[in-house]
Amino acid sequence: MNQQLHAALSALDRAHTLHPSTHLAQFARGEAANRIIVGGQGVYVEDSLGQRSLDGFAGLYCVNVGYGRQELAEAIAHQAQQLAYYHAYAGHSHEPVIRLSERIVRQAGMGMQRVYYGLSGSDANETNIKLVWYYHNVLGRPQKKKIISRHRAYHGSGLMTGSLTGLPVFQQAFDLPLEGVLHTTCPHYYWNAEAGETEAMFSQRCAEDLERLILAEGAETIAAFIAEPVMGTGGIIPPPQGYWAAIQPILRKYEVLLIVDEVVTAFGRTGQYFGAHTYQIQPDLITIAKGLTSAYLPLSGVIVGEKVWKVLEQGTDQLGALGHGWTYSAHPVCVAAAQANLDIVERENLTGNARETGAYLQAQLQEHFAEHPLVGEVRGVGLLAALEFVADKQKKQRFLPNQGIGAKVSAACLQEGLIARAMPHGDILGLAPPLVISRDEVDLLMGMLKRAVEKVYSSL
Ligand SMILES: Cc1ncc(COP(=O)(O)O)c(C=O)c1O
Repeated sequence: MNQQLHAALSALDRAHTLHPSTHLAQFARGEAANRIIVGGQGVYVEDSLGQRSLDGFAGLYCVNVGYGRQELAEAIAHQAQQLAYYHAYAGHSHEPVIRLSERIVRQAGMGMQRVYYGLSGSDANETNIKLVWYYHNVLGRPQKKKIISRHRAYHGSGLMTGSLTGLPVFQQAFDLPLEGVLHTTCPHYYWNAEAGETEAMFSQRCAEDLERLILAEGAETIAAFIAEPVMGTGGIIPPPQGYWAAIQPILRKYEVLLIVDEVVTAFGRTGQYFGAHTYQIQPDLITIAKGLTSAYLPLSGVIVGEKVWKVLEQGTDQLGALGHGWTYSAHPVCVAAAQANLDIVERENLTGNARETGAYLQAQLQEHFAEHPLVGEVRGVGLLAALEFVADKQKKQRFLPNQGIGAKVSAACLQEGLIARAMPHGDILGLAPPLVISRDEVDLLMGMLKRAVEKVYSSL
C-alpha cells in the first residue's frame, strides 16, 4: 500500500472507528499510534507500510495455528457454500457441530458432558454465570448467588464478565463491579508472598484467604469460583506450587462450583490440551474461545461437566426448555473453522510444540533475563511467558506508573520487528506466540527482545 492510501485510510479510521482498549481522544487527534495490518503468514504479520513483524502475541493470544492457513480458509468457504447458517434452537443441528462437540468432550475428559456455543470469551462466561445461578435455583438454594473471582483476573468486558475481571482499568467509570461479585487474593508469589514464605505456604495462605471470604459472606450465598489456570491479561502468572491442590478442597467443602476459564489456555498453549490437565484441576464448567478456531472466525464455548449437566436435565424437566441462547450459537461456518483448526493442532502436534519449543523459549528467557537488572521476574509455562520490569531488583521496587516501562519495551520491540504485548497492569511484557513457532523463530524473537530491553535499559 502506498503512503498516500495509508494516510487516507488512517484519517478515515481516526474519524469513524471506536477502537477497543484505546485512548480514544489521543487516537482521534492523531497523537496515538495507529497500525493497519494487511496480511499474515506463519508467525508474521505485515502492515500497510510494508513492515513485517514477528507476532510474539499471536494477535491476542489466539492465532495458534499461525496466519495464512489455506485449509482453514477453504473449510470456511466450503461450509459457507454448503450451509452458511441455521440456528441451533429446539434441537436443530448440523454435522459439523455434532462432530465438534463430540471431539471437545472427548478431548477434555474430566467428566465433561456437553458443549454450549457462543462467539466470544465474554459471552461464554456470561453463560457460565447464568448456568451457575440456574443450577443452584433448581437445587433449591436460591440464596447461592455470589461469584468469587481473583484480583487481576481477566474474564471479559461485559457487565458481569467485566465485574469478574479484577483489573481496575476495565471497571473505572463503568459502575463495575456489579453487586455480588467478590475478588480474592491474586496468587502472584513474586509480589504477594511474605518474607520467608515458600510457594507452598503462600498457596496455602491463598486458600485460607478464600475460605475466610466464603465464611465471612456466608457459604450459603457463594455460588461459584471462577479462575484462569494461568492468569493471562492480569500479567501472565502461572499458579504457585500447590495452588490448585489447596484451592479445590475449599470449593468442594462449601459446595462452590468451579468455573475454569480456559479462553487462553485451552487447545495446547500450556503444553497440554487443557490448562486443567497441566495443573490437575477438576472443573465443573470450562470456558473456551480463542484457540478453538485460532480466531479465523469467532467461536466460544462452555463445556458443562457431569454435576451441572445432571441438574440442567432435572431443571428442564421441571421448568421446560432452557431459556438461553444466541442467534449465532453453533454457527456452522465458525464450527467448520474450529474443526479445520483442531485438525491442524492435532496433525502438527502443536500441543507437543508448545511443550517442547515452549520449554526452549522459557529456558532462553531465564538464561538471558533472570539476572538482568531491569527484570524482576521471568515467568511462564508452555508458549506463554512474561518479563516483569522493576526499578530496583534488590529492593523489589516498581517503577512509577507514569514511567510506562512496559509500554516502552513493547514499542522498542516493535521497532526491532517483534510484537510483544505491554500487559495492561504493571510493567509486564507478555509473550504468547503462535503455537507453530519454531526454535529458529524463537532465536529470532530472543535477539529482537534482547536488543529492545537493552535499548530501554540504557535510556534510563
Ligand atoms: C481468560 C479470558 N477470559 C475471557 C476473555 C474474554 O474473551 P473475549 O475477548 O473473546 O470476549 C479473555 C480475553 O482475552 C480471556 O483472556
